[in-house]
Amino acid sequence: MRILASLIAATFVMMAFMPLGQSLPDDQSPESVEKWFKKFPHAKPKLTKLHFYLYNIVSKSPPNSAPVAQASTTPSTPVTSFGLVNVLDGPLREKPGAEIIGYSQGLFTFASQENRATLMTLNFVFTAGPFNGSTLSVLGHNLVTAKYREFPIIGGSGDFRMAQGIGTASSYFVNATSGDDILEMSFVFYRYPLPKTDSEYVAEE
Ligand SMILES: *[C@@H]1O[C@H](CO)[C@@H](O)[C@H](O)[C@H]1NC(C)=O
Ligand SMILES: *[C@@H]1O[C@H](CO)[C@@H](O)[C@H](O)[C@H]1NC(C)=O
Repeated sequence: MRILASLIAATFVMMAFMPLGQSLPDDQSPESVEKWFKKFPHAKPKLTKLHFYLYNIVSKSPPNSAPVAQASTTPSTPVTSFGLVNVLDGPLREKPGAEIIGYSQGLFTFASQENRATLMTLNFVFTAGPFNGSTLSVLGHNLVTAKYREFPIIGGSGDFRMAQGIGTASSYFVNATSGDDILEMSFVFYRYPLPKTDSEYVAEE
């Protein structure tokens, strides 16, 4: 009887310390993904909000982003930089100066001949917190001079499988001389935790 009681107590302690939301990213085998898809029709969409800052500091070494290609005409069109392709690996922080919670990795390409505007093809890779190991994929248009820029969130992995929503970016800090900038980003999207999984119970931000 006493053994049973302490076993039950131990189970409760383990549950309390179990890292929530990490059940899915840990198993990304094809079998596990297929099992998840078979249960997907039972998943309820859960509105999820994330707010963080994306750092693109180019004045230090190594820089968070770097140009990797350009058109032969790019140097003669400095207003639009049309044809310039940059690769980015910029840290994400919940607040300016706070710990890194992930990285934004991918390409931004100056793709307009009229404005300073980019095509953003980015993965947001979360490396800490309840969504550690999960990713969101973003594909969108970034008119650099606009106050707010909306990006479609077109999918994800781990806890964010089948995620869809909208990310909004605004400039929080820009240094035109050095090229450093920090974007404030708000993501709002639906994700699909399966019934009775840890990730269903992750607290909303
Ligand atoms: C994130 O997950 C990885 C892999 O499971 C683990 O090694 C790492 O310690 C975790 N990071 C944090 C901050 O929880
Ligand atoms: C902007 O960048 C320049 C060149 O790196 C630097 O001298 C200056 O201090 C920076 N200004 C701010 C506000 O960070």
